[in-house]
Amino acid sequence: MDSCNSKDFKLLTILGKTKLSTVYKALNKNKKYLAIKIIDLKRLDLKTDELIMREVNIWSQLQHPNIVAYYGSFIHKTFVWIKSEYMNVNSIRHLLENKYKTGLKYEYILAITKDVLIALMYLHSNNIIHRDIKAANILLNSNKEIKVADFGVSRLIKGKVSTFTGTPLWMAPEVLQNEIYDIKADIWSLGITVIEMKTAKPPHAELKPLKAMIKIITQPAPSVKGNLKTLLKMMLIKDATKRYTAERLLKSNIIKKARLFKELEEL
Ligand SMILES: Nc1ncnc2c1ncn2[C@@H]1O[C@H](COP(=O)(O)OP(=O)(O)O)[C@@H](O)[C@H]1O
Ligand SMILES: [Mg+2]
Repeated sequence: MDSCNSKDFKLLTILGKTKLSTVYKALNKNKKYLAIKIIDLKRLDLKTDELIMREVNIWSQLQHPNIVAYYGSFIHKTFVWIKSEYMNVNSIRHLLENKYKTGLKYEYILAITKDVLIALMYLHSNNIIHRDIKAANILLNSNKEIKVADFGVSRLIKGKVSTFTGTPLWMAPEVLQNEIYDIKADIWSLGITVIEMKTAKPPHAELKPLKAMIKIITQPAPSVKGNLKTLLKMMLIKDATKRYTAERLLKSNIIKKARLFKELEEL
């Protein structure tokens, strides 16, 4: 935790809001933009700030071009303030809701997937499972950088809250069945995110959480028509032991050949 004070920052606009937190675009004393996530501890069943801080610690140790940089955190009254790198184009989810309502083009999907796989390979080689890969947690900026966000804190909180308060749509079948997480769970979630990027929503989005869950567990793995099929066949394998790792996916022809996001025109 650092010695920052809430008065050192000017909160500007809301970048994202969920039941658990609000993320603001903010300005620091040196007139630099940053993102600040504010979580109300009072609204959670968490008295131990230490627990939150320990989780945030994981994020603070991560340094990678495809991971949103952590800038520190502090407690103010009953709130935890978590500072991070400001990503000025917001999330892929944001783009799907506001600009590309029928989905993204193939080459963009591949390029974004490649960047996320690079981030996952880094995390997984450090034995860290993200657990919440989806378009809302993939951020971008106008330097055409793609970065994974939402570490630790949300994972801890969402783990505390019953699974059913969240959406199961991106969760791997084995996670829904046994609540056991392995790094392969992130690959499944990224596969679902590929479908989300292609069609603007994940499979079963129209269903109530419990119904969706049953379908994910009982039905064959989802896919989409067209040229993403080959990639999805490697990611959306229900048997986690057979599902590809990030490393193996990065070596696959389809990903190796994919153009980098930086080489594409700005979204
Ligand atoms: N560093 C950031 N820069 C820009 N937007 C952000 C940033 N962090 C979060 N957001 C926006 O706020 C939303 C929620 O943030 P997130 O960290 O995912 O919190 P939650 O745990 O509530 O899901 C994101 O989906 C994104 O739209
Ligand atoms: Mg999130």
